[in-house]
Amino acid sequence: MAKVLSGIRPTGNLHLGNYLGAVKNFVEMQNTDDCLFFIADYHSLTTHQHPEELKKNVKNILVEYLACGLDPEKSIIYIQSDLPQLCEFYLLFNMIAYLGELERTASFKDKARKHSENVNAGLLTYPVLMAADILIHKADKVPVGKDQEQHLEMTRKFARRFNNQYGVEYFTEPVAYNFGKELIKIPGLDGSGKMGKSEGNCIYLIDNEKTIHSKVMKAVTDSGPVVPNSEMPEPIKNIFTILDIVSTQDTVSFFREKYNSCEIRYGDLKKQLAEDVIKVISPINQRIVELEKDDEYLGKIVKNGAEKAAETADKTIREIREIIGIRKFW
Ligand code: TYM
Repeated sequence: MAKVLSGIRPTGNLHLGNYLGAVKNFVEMQNTDDCLFFIADYHSLTTHQHPEELKKNVKNILVEYLACGLDPEKSIIYIQSDLPQLCEFYLLFNMIAYLGELERTASFKDKARKHSENVNAGLLTYPVLMAADILIHKADKVPVGKDQEQHLEMTRKFARRFNNQYGVEYFTEPVAYNFGKELIKIPGLDGSGKMGKSEGNCIYLIDNEKTIHSKVMKAVTDSGPVVPNSEMPEPIKNIFTILDIVSTQDTVSFFREKYNSCEIRYGDLKKQLAEDVIKVISPINQRIVELEKDDEYLGKIVKNGAEKAAETADKTIREIREIIGIRKFW
């Protein structure tokens, strides 16, 4: 049985990209693997959130995880900051990571460029904390979207470097995982790039039918193909990328043929996409409304999750202290 672990930053509500890129896989993997899923609240502090916002967002993600189908009977569900062992692991691995490689990380360069007023050290060492999340439980598989691929590569590099430095075979190298298929990137419907909170182009799992419909109908298109079988421009490709995942094969083929024969009507395409996105989101949406009322149940889940997660975290910390040579004198 593989050990699976993944997390999400509580910076808002879950969107369709989070769900299709990551959480949908979490739900499936918990039936076959040994799974841990957590809420990465420390990671979310690289952008300074208001304390009340942070509390609300942690609860949102927990509720939405459960509404998507994460099951506390099958998986360990916890909040990152409930695991104090992680801070020690992070500190120790900050000695393994090099400044140059951290500065070259795509996500660091991107965030430093976009938010030049807040290039904090936590942003620089973000991949080290992520490696700590994964390696402290010695996870083998990490279900994530394509944007996290480089962070996983760095985790493998740190694990290898630790093993080499201390002459041990302690850590195995975890892999980013999407059932053996390519990792996916859900695009926004605003023409280019990924769907993301900071991009402001998200369809959220809390959106109602009307909102989803109106967001999809606003998707960027063009005046339509004039040459048969021509290559799709990016905004149209993006619509088909989502359609490919949420619609049936027949529907996708129908609209592809229409595109290739220059007969496509984008209004019909968007209407179909909206319907199929609603089919995915609306059952989740209904469960969110139920779950968010039950604070006592939510509290029990994360308390229990933290206790279980602490078992493996404690063991790893004890063992790496021993390997590193941090000894007790009493
Ligand atoms: P975060 O919070 O940005 O995103 C959570 C998950 O959603 C995926 N995702 C997407 N997938 C496809 N298309 C999109 N448009 C899209 N947008 C988001 C992300 O790939 C991710 O899987 N660093 C992580 C959180 C984290 C973590 C970890 C993950 C912290 N420690 C340890 C795995 C293991 C992050 O910022 O994800």
